[in-house]
Amino acid sequence: MDKERELIRSAKSVRRRAVATYSKFKVGAAVLAADGGIHEGCNVENSTYGLTVCAERVAIFKALSEGVRKFRMIAVVADTDPLTPPCGACRQIIWEFCGDVPVVLANLRGGVARYRMSQLLPLAFDRKLLKRASKP
Ligand code: THU
Repeated sequence: MDKERELIRSAKSVRRRAVATYSKFKVGAAVLAADGGIHEGCNVENSTYGLTVCAERVAIFKALSEGVRKFRMIAVVADTDPLTPPCGACRQIIWEFCGDVPVVLANLRGGVARYRMSQLLPLAFDRKLLKRASKP
């Protein structure tokens, strides 16, 4: 199976574990690491609402905490039409840790769309700007 299909499959499968107690909106994400490994995450909600963590960030943070530092692709799966893209906070985190990777969106009925991170987060703020501030 090609890596994109494998990633969608993983995201679909982990989506079933979503802790979507309040919204009932279940999301699964899977990131492909440079070594071919796949790291999965689902959204995790709690009674504060505001401390919810999206599936994409769970997947990336899990991988980072396992020591993985290079990523090649990310897939996001929700049961929606149109397809669910990453939220603004997740776009920032995907850009920071994965760079300009392909972002594959899919639903449960075979819908698939592909973007690059630079399309989803044009004019990104990132570490390159931190060095560019004028000295006081
Ligand atoms: N959510 C994600 O996990 N990823 C997205 O890309 C969009 C939103 C979650 C957060 C919350 O648990 C639920 O979906 C509704 O916003």
